[in-house]
Amino acid sequence: MTVMLQSVRDAGSVTERDAEALLALEAATQERPLALATLLRESGPHGVILLARDVSNGEGVLVGFASARLSVDEVDVIRLAVDADQRRRGTGRALLDGLVGWAEEVGAAAVVLEVRAGNVAAQQLYAAAGFTQDGRRPRYYPDGEDALLLRRPLVRRTATPTTTPARAQRATTAGGV
Ligand SMILES: CC(C)(COP(=O)(O)OP(=O)(O)OC[C@H]1O[C@@H](n2cnc3c(N)ncnc32)[C@H](O)[C@@H]1OP(=O)(O)O)[C@@H](O)C(=O)NCCC(=O)NCCS
Repeated sequence: MTVMLQSVRDAGSVTERDAEALLALEAATQERPLALATLLRESGPHGVILLARDVSNGEGVLVGFASARLSVDEVDVIRLAVDADQRRRGTGRALLDGLVGWAEEVGAAAVVLEVRAGNVAAQQLYAAAGFTQDGRRPRYYPDGEDALLLRRPLVRRTATPTTTPARAQRATTAGGV
């Protein structure tokens, strides 16, 4: 599989087919799936949504997506999901690396996220990408499962973040990734 990443900022740059595939992924991986417009709003003007396409057969079928936003000087990962039939082929890591690269570009000091305490697959992925545990939120998820807070510090390429949205934005996504 050959995966290409594309960043999108508004609904206009998402084709109908991509939107359908993205929402199917959202429904398959989230207890409370969000609409595309809500996902775009959650990442906000200081955020990014990355689409991962399998371009090996020329069709460019969407196989995963990830989203994040800049809150003050940290990038918060909102979503990271790969089609269940396409996992363990490097797409999750490619998306995560894409988000980390974007975070470096915007001058963030760190990338942070919440992961379910029982989500071993994602935790392995994050550990391999240099994330370490930075806390725990008891009963963070609607079903009562704890969240682990993970962080990967970044070496800043620029002196300050290119944007400075309010830290309050971080509280707007229910459930985290
Ligand atoms: C987590 C997720 C995004 C990983 O996507 P993926 O495309 O399978 O990940 P990759 O193929 O890039 O895996 C990279 C590394 O992560 C780790 N990993 C991924 N899936 C794993 C699993 N099921 N068990 C153990 N380790 C796993 C491995 O170290 C893997 O490297 P390897 O295949 O060389 O051993 C995918 O399983 C998913 O969409 N899960 C449901 C949604 C979710 O949990 N998102 C994260 C929320 S915090």
